Amino acid sequence: MEAIKVFCPATIANVSCGFDVLGLALDSVGDEMTVRKTVKRGITISKIIGQDLPLETSKNVSGVAGLAFLEKSDYNGGFEIEIDKRIKPGSGIGSSAASSAGAVWAMNELLGRPFSTLELVQFAMQGEKLASEVAHADNVAPALFGGFTLVRSYEPLDIIAIPTPTELFATVIHPQIEVKTSDSRKILKTKITLEKGIQQWGNVGGLVAGLFQSDYDLIGRSLEDHIVEPIRSILIPGFDDIKSNAIKAGALGGGISGSGPSIFALSKGEEIAKKVAESMHETYQHIGIPFDVHISKVNTQGVKILA
Ligand code: HSE
Repeated sequence: MEAIKVFCPATIANVSCGFDVLGLALDSVGDEMTVRKTVKRGITISKIIGQDLPLETSKNVSGVAGLAFLEKSDYNGGFEIEIDKRIKPGSGIGSSAASSAGAVWAMNELLGRPFSTLELVQFAMQGEKLASEVAHADNVAPALFGGFTLVRSYEPLDIIAIPTPTELFATVIHPQIEVKTSDSRKILKTKITLEKGIQQWGNVGGLVAGLFQSDYDLIGRSLEDHIVEPIRSILIPGFDDIKSNAIKAGALGGGISGSGPSIFALSKGEEIAKKVAESMHETYQHIGIPFDVHISKVNTQGVKILA
């Protein structure tokens, strides 16, 4: 195989209680990327449509992730990348992760899968480091493994794939304002009280147990964030109303998607997810900021081959 076209999913990182450790992949939102083998060594980004992003390899997240891949590979050639960028940078649904994960996944396929998924996560994390100054894995892990993932440890990297209850749907509203992950990390406190820690790890355990047991009520009860949401939500106009109205419309719970400004809600079944989308439309149209709303099943596959 000389070339491959892939779908690179958008992702919801943190999933309320799991800052930097929990994430899930979406099915209906993502970028498309074509990767070709080249005789010339190195990574060339030949075309980006949809967004104004750098073509220069060292300044583009897919270029940097690709270079990390090549550095560990014994392949003597290189790759050319074309990106149809459908996820806006700074939207909070893993724009940089989709490009980083898609690039290394496609390269691995083209070479007959020399690397494990965990190794691909490590390469893709270099793209995240370029984008947000921190090599966090909570977007690239679900993009590559699919479904929900837990980063149990960063040193050494240990990622747990968590089963997805079949009826779980996500509704995401993206207010069209840009929040840079690097900026929204700088405003966070670096110390927490024991009391907040106890609340938070109770919820992380509850959410993981709820996902394993397909216990939708437990999932909903666990979608609480006592540490990051109270600080970051101030940057997102209408956050409290969107969240409380989504829950009134039947959502299990929700919160900030990644570092925002997108806001997500999880629901049991597509019908409720649609009602939640209507409530988000209704709530946000009074705020005066353009927005779009997506409904998606959880993507249990991760990056997928399109052609
Ligand atoms: N865990 C990261 C953060 C995700 O919240 O900063 C960014 O998408």
